[in-house]
Amino acid sequence: MKNVSFATLGDDPVGMIVCTFNKSAKFKHIAEIYSFYVRPAYRGRGIGRALLDHAVARVMRKYRIVKVRLYVNEKQRTAVKMYKKVGFATVGRLEKEMKVGRRLYTMLIMEKAINPSGSIPKEQTGHGLLKPSP
Ligand SMILES: CC(C)(COP(=O)(O)OP(=O)(O)OC[C@H]1O[C@@H](n2cnc3c(N)ncnc32)[C@H](O)[C@@H]1OP(=O)(O)O)[C@@H](O)C(=O)NCCC(=O)NCCS
Repeated sequence: MKNVSFATLGDDPVGMIVCTFNKSAKFKHIAEIYSFYVRPAYRGRGIGRALLDHAVARVMRKYRIVKVRLYVNEKQRTAVKMYKKVGFATVGRLEKEMKVGRRLYTMLIMEKAINPSGSIPKEQTGHGLLKPSP
């Protein structure tokens, strides 16, 4: 499942963020964030942070999610700094992963723990027991 959120000023879309939830039984505890973008003229006003907070809050409402992952070009320092601020940590590096023109860029894999135990809160199961995943 894919959720696309837009930031708008009046009728103008000025930013977006996408959040996906895997359907596969073995991976449905992982959410991913991508296509995070604010139009250059509107940057530095808090719109990016608001979009990111919105996406993380959306992920946190899904009780099955254990972690949220994203991939970012390590040169995108504003984004990397922002991700760290909201609790993402670098868990891996993909060297020479992206090619733009002749230049190769390293992508960082960043993750944020959401519900590390993966347990379903008691109030949502009625008995507090975690059902084994199929
Ligand atoms: C990353 C991006 C979405 C941030 O959007 P934004 O609306 O400018 O972000 P905000 O205004 O909420 O700023 C968030 C933080 O970044 C800082 N920041 C914003 N623009 C900056 C700049 N040009 N240089 C340095 N810091 C900057 C802000 O000061 C703020 O820091 P703070 O929380 O310490 O105050 C935007 O820069 C962008 O679209 N970049 C290109 C695409 C990209 O890198 N996407 C991420 C790919 S995974």
